[in-house]
Amino acid sequence: MSEKIVYLNGEYLPIEQATVSVLDRGFLFGDGIYEVIPVFGRRPLRVDEHLQRLQNSLSRISLDNPFDNEAWKTIFDQLLEKNPGEDRAIYMQITRGKHPVRDLKIQPDKCPTIFMMVLQVGAIDVDVLARGIETVTIDDFRWHACDIKSISLVANVMLREQATQAGVIDAVLVRDGFVTEGTASNFFMVKNGVLITPPISKHLLPGITRDLVIELAQENDIKSEIRQIAMNELDDADEIWLTSSTREIAPVIRLNGKDVGDAKAGLVWKKMIHIYQDYKQKLRQA
Ligand code: PDD
Repeated sequence: MSEKIVYLNGEYLPIEQATVSVLDRGFLFGDGIYEVIPVFGRRPLRVDEHLQRLQNSLSRISLDNPFDNEAWKTIFDQLLEKNPGEDRAIYMQITRGKHPVRDLKIQPDKCPTIFMMVLQVGAIDVDVLARGIETVTIDDFRWHACDIKSISLVANVMLREQATQAGVIDAVLVRDGFVTEGTASNFFMVKNGVLITPPISKHLLPGITRDLVIELAQENDIKSEIRQIAMNELDDADEIWLTSSTREIAPVIRLNGKDVGDAKAGLVWKKMIHIYQDYKQKLRQA
């Protein structure tokens, strides 16, 4: 296997040689943001939308964007070239970098740490995905800034661990009686043929896959609705899905030990996953 080449502060180097100071604010405080961009063939999926979300996250934490979109895309191309493969993902993170002392106060001098690597995620197998996953609902105790794609993920780690301890793959997070999202994914429910997802807010990440799924539903005559989903509606859901760049569209077949629908990937999911795979295939060939 070829060596994994990463990007760090302007250099391309083998991953073992990429090191960051222990004074980096990303390491000390989780003071940074990240993105995960799926790549099909050589084509990053919705790259402008990912770069816009990157900009939004940076603005929210008062960190300047070190590059314009064209410069980012040039680095993506070079990194992909150095890490050949088919279905991959670009992982990128920007931290506020190294300051001379450990102090929460932001110093005026700017020295961000810019890191990127390619994740060899491999092609999604729709038959495997169709087997579905089991989840539980867990109280969403995260902060009021979940729209920032922050590298401070300890709350998500704790929530995922609660799910693991409960013997399931992931959690459906619930805040004040309403569903927010998964620990690293967005939430969809199907009821009477209508696809429903909660609105964008400070309590969930505006997922790029979420937006794409809503758009594809609209283009393909699947009725969709964006509204709050009360926890007690989940008992009667016909289908539940979790969406993300790496998981794509995962059907949830059991929730809190009870079957969702008939405990199989549903009809609307089957329609959507094929639309989604076609979209990816067109991107590969573009
Ligand atoms: N996570 N919500 C949360 C909390 C997430 O971490 C993610 C993605 C999503 C879905 O967003 P998108 O469709 O843009 O991937 C929603 C990435 C994949 C991760 O942390 O690895």
